[in-house]
Amino acid sequence: MDIDQQTRWNQRYASTELIWSAGPNELFAEIAAGLAIGSALDLGCGEGRNSIWLAQQGWRVSAVDFAANGLDKGRELSSQQGLDVEWILADVSQWESDVKYDLVAVLFLHTSKREREHWLTMAVQAVQPGGYFLYIGHDPENIANGSGGPQIPDVLVKLSELEECCGNFDHIRAETFSRTLLNEEGHGGVLGGKNVALDTIFLAKRKY
Ligand SMILES: C[S@@+](CC[C@H](N)C(=O)[O-])C[C@H]1O[C@@H](n2cnc3c(N)ncnc32)[C@H](O)[C@@H]1O
Repeated sequence: MDIDQQTRWNQRYASTELIWSAGPNELFAEIAAGLAIGSALDLGCGEGRNSIWLAQQGWRVSAVDFAANGLDKGRELSSQQGLDVEWILADVSQWESDVKYDLVAVLFLHTSKREREHWLTMAVQAVQPGGYFLYIGHDPENIANGSGGPQIPDVLVKLSELEECCGNFDHIRAETFSRTLLNEEGHGGVLGGKNVALDTIFLAKRKY
């Protein structure tokens, strides 16, 4: 586990304000709205904006993050709304799921390649046949042509890496998407310069 990263995330989530938007990532909600409701795993869930939205739609959600402060916010928000989300404190570079899900979602989980080797394989294996794997993250091209997000190429996942991991899946969407940035605290508050981020989007359905 990268303790420094965990400490950094906990510090970012320590304030009472939300770092990310209260509502879900818009593209995520648009894509997930087209899927049959079932069970979902949200890896690197942060303050739980996407998990909470899924639960609001009727999904049974398990949400994993190694930042206890982020999970506490998610737990508080979900309980205020009477939503039952399973909040799991764990390091996804070591954690294993013993359950298969109809949807495994990974949003903006940018880690070292070494950590990713574990969680990406685990995430894909946690999708049950007929279920979906959905990845949204900053695209490697975002460093040169977008705004915000990590500036280290190795932590940004290429579409080709996702495609290779999902050999036994039908690939439904695999593209780079240009997103207009919201003024979220996590992006450093008010943004200057470019106000778009380039995201990698990958949606695949497990064949068997
Ligand atoms: C940019 S935030 C995205 C949060 C959420 N997916 C969203 O879209 O709002 C990245 C999250 O990944 C979590 N994270 C990073 N490395 C992790 C690890 N090894 N295990 C568990 N969570 C991790 C951080 O704590 C942080 O909450």
